[in-house]
Amino acid sequence: MKAFVQSFGCQLNVSDGEKLKGLLGDMGYSFTGDNTEADLIILNTCAVRESAEERVFGIIGEMKHLKEAKPEMIIIVSGCMTAQEHIAPKIKKSYPHVDIVVGTGAFASLPKLIEECRKGQKFGVDISEYDDFSHERKQVRESTFKASVPIMFGCNNFCTYCIVPYVRGRERSRNAEDIVSEVRGLVENGYKEIMLLGQNVNSYGKDLDGSPTFPQLLRLLDGIDGDFVIRFMSSHPKDVTNELIEAIFDCKKVAKHLHLPIQSGNDDILKAMNRNYTVRQYLDTVNKLRSQCSDFSLTTDIIVGFPNETDRQFEDTVSLLRKVKFDNIFAFIYSKRTGTKAAEIDDKISGEVKSQRMQSLLEVQREIAEQNNKRFIGRTLRVLADTVSKKRKGRITGKSDEFIIVEFDGDSGLLGEFVDVKVDAAMNWAVSGKMKEEGIENGFN
Ligand code: SAH
Ligand code: SF4
Ligand code: F3S
Repeated sequence: MKAFVQSFGCQLNVSDGEKLKGLLGDMGYSFTGDNTEADLIILNTCAVRESAEERVFGIIGEMKHLKEAKPEMIIIVSGCMTAQEHIAPKIKKSYPHVDIVVGTGAFASLPKLIEECRKGQKFGVDISEYDDFSHERKQVRESTFKASVPIMFGCNNFCTYCIVPYVRGRERSRNAEDIVSEVRGLVENGYKEIMLLGQNVNSYGKDLDGSPTFPQLLRLLDGIDGDFVIRFMSSHPKDVTNELIEAIFDCKKVAKHLHLPIQSGNDDILKAMNRNYTVRQYLDTVNKLRSQCSDFSLTTDIIVGFPNETDRQFEDTVSLLRKVKFDNIFAFIYSKRTGTKAAEIDDKISGEVKSQRMQSLLEVQREIAEQNNKRFIGRTLRVLADTVSKKRKGRITGKSDEFIIVEFDGDSGLLGEFVDVKVDAAMNWAVSGKMKEEGIENGFN
């Protein structure tokens, strides 16, 4: 029996998808990337923006034909969308070909729901809240060299635009010993990149008595033997302490890169978003990082068109980009999420204005990125080779420790290996260069 599991949204959700696969594997399923040959389909959904939900509903709609062609197929909807009260009734009413709806806190009941469905149960639902899905559960990982390791779940911040605290509950940190032993096991099995995940990783441990803080956890993980890189995301700017900055620079295995979502470059908007920091405080953090490493790599998230954001307030965000010179930004047009505080604001700004702002923001960022990437020309970057380029034959891409995409000549045998690449060109999305041969590097030639 074959299963097809598709995850949407953030890396935490992708990690949940790997755990769902672990559960299905234990039930005897193998996996396919082709949903037409699947006996069971899971759509592991995201609710962060309306567009994400619309896309999922579009896909659920298309599944009707698959089910007609194969009536015994089991279709399951899981993930963040299901935590909203109106979703299960909507699916039941409008998409009767869906068999099961299971929430992020109820994965453990999935085997039972699947069993009941096989016996003829019509519409199985368990969206019970945060009945913590065992974090130590077996996973079927997508990659043999890059691993996601959730260290905490949920969020306490209630940014006024965001649905995550409502669909993922309050912050819950994993036990540090479990995290360390998981990472040690991964490294022993050849994993080269460990990505620590959480909605706000730098508040790790605050909910557990006697737990290491996040910087202390980084130091514990840095002490594990082996050649690997430690990354983490997302960090909240309000929780970036001096202790964290010191740990980033002290720990050899921790990547010299920080993903630090700013959301807006205007203090009034930040206040309306309930972000709990000012632009000044954010820039202070940037200065601390850059005083130790002048081109320290930073990436960020931006929301364009928060309700009633004025042109001037938007321009503050553009100026901030020019000031900080992020290596990459993830920009989103504000999406109204029912149940959040910002959804109650009567927004006067048109969608058209928001789209125009988005285009101009991306234009500015493209210029900045190209300019930024030039700093690597002539330098040698350590790169974890991870993808064979589909468009350019004979080319491999990977990420440098600074989280920069690097393209170079090579073959699939390099995937999962660290290579040194000397950069000779910069684009706005990546740099490219030539791999250094080991012999030359060691001085044998
Ligand atoms: N916990 C992370 C972000 C998780 S969601 C953090 O605070 O950094 C990822 C990104 O989606 C956010 O940083 C934000 O930029 C964006 N986002 C969240 N809610 C949104 C909404 N309602 N509309 C548009 N973008 C949103
Ligand atoms: Fe959402 Fe804010 Fe929590 Fe991030 S910190 S998940 S943006 S509420
Ligand atoms: Fe989306 Fe849930 Fe992640 S809402 S962004 S999949 S935590």
